[in-house]
Amino acid sequence: MTVTASPLSFTSLPPSPQADPKYFEEFGREVHGFDPENKDVVMDEIMEALYKYQVLLFRDLKLTPKQQFEMTLAFDPTAQSYGHGNNKTGSEKKSILHPDLKTIPHRPEVQLIGNGKVPGNYEGLESPQLKHPHHKTFHRDPVSDEDEAKGITRFYRWHIDAALYKLNPPKVTTLYAVSVPKGEWQTLRYDDGTDDTLSLPKGSTVFASGKTMFDILPAEYKSVAVRTTVKYAPHPYVWMSNAHALPTGLGLETEGLELPLDELPPWTESELKALPMCWKNPVTGGLHLQVHPCAPQAFSIAPLPAGAPRDSTTLYPDGAEITDIGEVRELLYKLQRPGIDPKLLFAAEWKEGDLVLFHNRGLLHSVTGAFAPDELRMFHQCNLAASTEPVGPDAADMAAYA
Ligand SMILES: [Fe+2]
Repeated sequence: MTVTASPLSFTSLPPSPQADPKYFEEFGREVHGFDPENKDVVMDEIMEALYKYQVLLFRDLKLTPKQQFEMTLAFDPTAQSYGHGNNKTGSEKKSILHPDLKTIPHRPEVQLIGNGKVPGNYEGLESPQLKHPHHKTFHRDPVSDEDEAKGITRFYRWHIDAALYKLNPPKVTTLYAVSVPKGEWQTLRYDDGTDDTLSLPKGSTVFASGKTMFDILPAEYKSVAVRTTVKYAPHPYVWMSNAHALPTGLGLETEGLELPLDELPPWTESELKALPMCWKNPVTGGLHLQVHPCAPQAFSIAPLPAGAPRDSTTLYPDGAEITDIGEVRELLYKLQRPGIDPKLLFAAEWKEGDLVLFHNRGLLHSVTGAFAPDELRMFHQCNLAASTEPVGPDAADMAAYA
């Protein structure tokens, strides 16, 4: 038997200026030596690396929508549809995601996203008009025009790519850069009472490890995180369609603007998503704090396990059902905000031909920046509603953290 050496090699990601290298030992890799024509022989290695490192960056690829779909499908061969389903008609039209996605007709699991008007026929779409989301359409208190002209930006919206109603969160998202306008660097401001800023390339996609987000929490918050089940709103992107984001893009302001549940498209209890707050990595066994910051409606916190020590720092020792939306958001912000500290983030500097695979069940990500109407930016994005739900903490995790 001949054993062929893998053509792949892995190096650390190009560091962002503020990144603290100690948080990147196990977060992010650039992959070298990948040929899409021979992807099948290396997909097992790529999949293992993705779960280990959460973000994989490939440079200078030529990748067809079919190849991208096949790479995405390899992670979950029985997955059936795009991560948000393919129904964007009728009452679903109010979803805040609707304008951002153009479906490629011959490969409907792959979406064209970006900015500007694409000339001519593109992959079966006639001159598609793309629009990069601008934070001023979503944040309650956006950056002033004056500051924006100086290159100040925000995180648009931290999220997981997931419908969070009826469909399971995709395991992986693949993003392939077809056309990237030249851009200067910008300063991203948190504007949440801290002086935190992040220096990043215009239009960067930013990634925050859910494992780091969990690991850096104090013990009393880890205990809450492993005991909590997150109950998501029905049709969350319609439900939140009138709501505004916090200045960090990490969740919503509580202003009572969510749609009443009886004004949403038809929904049933059985299709609601109630998911663990921490999701177990299928390769490393690590816990990732994985909550869509905007979409939860309630938390169900289990009591401490029998015999678990309790002291004055213990939170919710007897469990709790938190149904007040303001209280849900306040607790979630305390759990997630430390994990988006500037020193923890990978900010991608996109170049044409880049492919990024990210572990959608292991991190949060956000769009940043803004583009003028004539700046053409084109990406192919693919993810698939998973065949199974994420797995929460096991008995050993509860013994270690609860
Ligand atoms: Fe996304």
